[in-house]
Amino acid sequence: MLLHIILLSLFAFPFSMALGTLQGSTINTIAKPNCQTRCGNITVPYPFGIGNDTDCSIDNSFHVTCNMTYEPPKLFLRSSDIEIYSISDSELRIGTAVSYGCYNKNGTLIDDFDFWIQLSAFTFSQKNKFTVLGCDDYSFIRGTNGVDFSNGCLGLCSKAQDVPDDGQCSGMGCCQTSIPKGLSKYNVTLYTFNNHRAVFPFNDCGYAFLGEEGSFEFRGVHDLYADSDVVERIESTVPVVVDWVRAVHELNEHEQGYVRVRSLRKFGCS
Ligand SMILES: *[C@@H]1O[C@H](CO)[C@@H](O)[C@H](O)[C@H]1NC(C)=O
Ligand SMILES: *[C@@H]1O[C@H](CO)[C@@H](O)[C@H](O)[C@H]1NC(C)=O
Ligand SMILES: *[C@@H]1O[C@H](CO)[C@@H](O)[C@H](O)[C@H]1NC(C)=O
Ligand SMILES: *[C@@H]1O[C@H](CO)[C@@H](O)[C@H](O)[C@H]1NC(C)=O
Ligand SMILES: *[C@@H]1O[C@H](CO)[C@@H](O)[C@H](O)[C@H]1NC(C)=O
Repeated sequence: MLLHIILLSLFAFPFSMALGTLQGSTINTIAKPNCQTRCGNITVPYPFGIGNDTDCSIDNSFHVTCNMTYEPPKLFLRSSDIEIYSISDSELRIGTAVSYGCYNKNGTLIDDFDFWIQLSAFTFSQKNKFTVLGCDDYSFIRGTNGVDFSNGCLGLCSKAQDVPDDGQCSGMGCCQTSIPKGLSKYNVTLYTFNNHRAVFPFNDCGYAFLGEEGSFEFRGVHDLYADSDVVERIESTVPVVVDWVRAVHELNEHEQGYVRVRSLRKFGCS
């Protein structure tokens, strides 16, 4: 409680702005005085701030890095490689990464990637869906929000003609499921039933990712080939929605947040 009062008086103006936005008013586009408000096209409102040694953010867990070597400049969460696309009054939209497993026609795993991410101060929004692409694949998203969570989805089909290309993720070749509230980290692992042996001519890889519902347009069997643009398309257009408001309250309870990302990339045969 004492800390709460000190925080309120230290940051009286911007902190009340942040609280004001909790009641659903307009987006706070105001950074602390003498702090940079923009990174390229992206507005950085308090309690976020650019730089971790500048005192521009409410706490180290809210610092962001503006990298000017990109045109336009890119914004990253803390000092990580998690790209921030936008910051609203209660949410961040960040980049996602696609987990995948690719097979040759003999059913040998030739390339795979399992992704995991941890955002201890912030949580993944329930506006996100977990999506699995493939005809011989299932995948689990596992994480924790205090209790361990695991959910899976199944991509099945036996013929290329069975996979609809009307943009909908309806079960054939594409499966979607939800995640629980309050998840602060997750990992995605892909599995296959038959190493794509039966579906290899039109589907040699399975893919899985978390992303904002409605932001991914499934282009049918086109998206099931290793040499399609599906991974690049997802990683450049599908955001993950992150809730940050609760982390401000947790600061008052003196809980220091931190952000960590690590991905595990494995290549080779098995
Ligand atoms: C971002 O800025 C660039 C120029 O710096 C502009 O071409 C682009 O349309 C802008 N994008 C958005 C989403 O505002
Ligand atoms: C800035 O962040 C980096 C990486 O998180 C850390 O090593 C460094 O000590 C931080 N600097 C300050 C002044 O907090
Ligand atoms: C900016 O991005 C470039 C290219 O990825 C990288 O080499 C550089 O270290 C980054 N700079 C900062 C300050 O993070
Ligand atoms: C598949 O297996 C056959 C027989 O073992 C072998 O000759 C061929 O080179 C393999 N093909 C690939 C792409 O690994
Ligand atoms: C994935 O997450 C679950 C639940 O948090 C954990 O038990 C498991 O060890 C994690 N796996 C990897 C490879 O990180």
